[in-house]
Amino acid sequence: MEAPKLLLLFLLIRCDLFIGKSLGDGVTPQEAKELRDEVREMFYHAFNGYMDHAFPRDELRPLSCGGEDTLGGYALTLIDSLDTLALLGDKERFTASVEWIGKNLRFDINKTVSIFETTIRVLGGLISAHLIASDHNTGMRIPSYDDELLHLAEDLARRMLPAFDTPTGIPFGSVNLLHGVDEHESKITSTAGGGTLTLEFGILSRLTNDPIFEQVAKNAVRGLWARRSKINLVGAHIDVFSGDWTQKDAGIGTSIDSFYEYLLKAYLLFGDEEYLFIFQEAYKAAMKYLFNDPWYVEVNMNSAALVWPLFNSLQAFWPGLQVLAGDIEPAIRTHAAFFSVWRRYGFTPEGFNLATLSVQQGQKSYPLRPELIESTYWLYKATRDPRYLDAGRDMLASLQYGARCTCGYCHISDVEFHKQEDHMESFFLAETVKYLWLLFDLAAGPDNLVENGPYKYIFSTEGHLLPATPQISLVREHCSYFGAYCRNSNLRLKTHSHESAETNSSGSQTRPADSSFLSRSSYQSSSPVSGLKGLCPGLTHGQRFGISFMTPVDPSSEDEQSSQRETTEIQSHSVVLISNPNPEVSLSGSHNDHENDPAHAPQEESPSSKQRR
Ligand SMILES: *[C@@H]1O[C@H](CO)[C@@H](O)[C@H](O)[C@H]1NC(C)=O
Ligand SMILES: *[C@@H]1O[C@H](CO)[C@@H](O)[C@H](O)[C@H]1NC(C)=O
Repeated sequence: MEAPKLLLLFLLIRCDLFIGKSLGDGVTPQEAKELRDEVREMFYHAFNGYMDHAFPRDELRPLSCGGEDTLGGYALTLIDSLDTLALLGDKERFTASVEWIGKNLRFDINKTVSIFETTIRVLGGLISAHLIASDHNTGMRIPSYDDELLHLAEDLARRMLPAFDTPTGIPFGSVNLLHGVDEHESKITSTAGGGTLTLEFGILSRLTNDPIFEQVAKNAVRGLWARRSKINLVGAHIDVFSGDWTQKDAGIGTSIDSFYEYLLKAYLLFGDEEYLFIFQEAYKAAMKYLFNDPWYVEVNMNSAALVWPLFNSLQAFWPGLQVLAGDIEPAIRTHAAFFSVWRRYGFTPEGFNLATLSVQQGQKSYPLRPELIESTYWLYKATRDPRYLDAGRDMLASLQYGARCTCGYCHISDVEFHKQEDHMESFFLAETVKYLWLLFDLAAGPDNLVENGPYKYIFSTEGHLLPATPQISLVREHCSYFGAYCRNSNLRLKTHSHESAETNSSGSQTRPADSSFLSRSSYQSSSPVSGLKGLCPGLTHGQRFGISFMTPVDPSSEDEQSSQRETTEIQSHSVVLISNPNPEVSLSGSHNDHENDPAHAPQEESPSSKQRR
């Protein structure tokens, strides 16, 4: 790994030059407003293009102004755009869209679809929109709304359940929505494919009172983690029957990325410490074996031997995840390195070879991905360093000059020649535009659901807003895991009026006597913490608010026996400690002691990343 390291140094120097230059012309609050409004216009250019030319097909063909079905043929881009509409405050279009979907969408269709894509785009889109439309606290409640989207989500998730019927618990990659798993379906799936379902499925269990969804998703994570290597790395592809890894390259990008993301976020949203422990071990190993400061490489999961010295554009979500975990220093360096690649080409290519410092053959495209923008938003939020606004302005300019086309925004098929291609993935509106808008709105003095709303929000890997409502956040497990005592053992979780309507849906009568997370033994209705009603009184502030602060790992204390020492390590130095939420994201108004310490991270969530898009 020496050779690439030297060359990387060279690249880094160049990127420092770029940054030095852009620091000079900072973005003023007024300019941030203008940029935010430009992003809004960008959204409508693409959204209206989709509605006029592609709807109800899945995605827009922005050059030829037509539509194409890319997933299930069910208005994918509209579903993926719902919470962006709400975030932008467009009540009229949000309402009309939710109503159309409630009336017209059906999943009893003979289509074989990806479990991963369907979960993050469709299930996540429906759930986030449901939680906005059904809740007056969001300011976007739809009076006529009667849980149509929740019922659709539940129906869809049930149609995916047959995929989880495997010896390992890791689901097949695809399922037919009408017939279950196809006879000749591949038994090979990616780590991200099996490990990126916990948020959507977990929320669905809490909203429907049926534990099955959460159980299968958690079981899949356990199935993957149980097959980790001795050095706590996971591979890229696995056989869901034998549990053998068929592709042993460990990395943080393609095929694995959001596995890491959902471990941390599932902990943050549900307070389930099992996910935190796995994340801590997985994160430590990633930083030890994959981090080649400031880049990340792919190594063999068993031997840690270098396989690919390659920047992969999906890796760009990682600095954002590190912000959530509180590990800001390496995030800053890595973001700067990744952004230097963007600056060099105007976009990030799917692959950039760190040994030759050139675009990787066959990986020249930029399909409008959000990851670098997403990390830029998180780093700006954590540091308020104006360099991130400059970076955002650069990326916006690239999209406007390079990707804007007749009816929307076009993929770039080759970042060296900026050739446009006739596709616009639905995640452009779900994520890319959303994070850009959030970045500039934050700089302008935010007024939106995420920054000023009634709940702490976790972003799914598709950028969907998942609120930590009392019903969703795991009140009881917080209490039991943290050893806090909680009384009121037979109190039901009090839900907001309209959210309780679905407690009678299928499964509720037959659910197991103690379906762990659903027996809300610990609910404390009198808690003064307004944002998260129901927190148990015995928790410290940090415990209540989830996250988490990491200090840089002290290399001298790292060794191979980490697994045996996990508990003490957690407390002594490395990875996530339970402390210090960032004041502006703590929803309750109760502030913490470190609010002005930039080294401490904000505690909610967000990154996203797409395994194999
Ligand atoms: C489902 O679709 C497949 C492939 O498109 C087709 O062969 C099959 O006959 C269809 N089944 C039904 C019940 O429509
Ligand atoms: C709940 O389900 C039971 C049994 O299916 C049914 O009899 C009852 O009417 C339902 N209650 C509500 C409020 O829907």
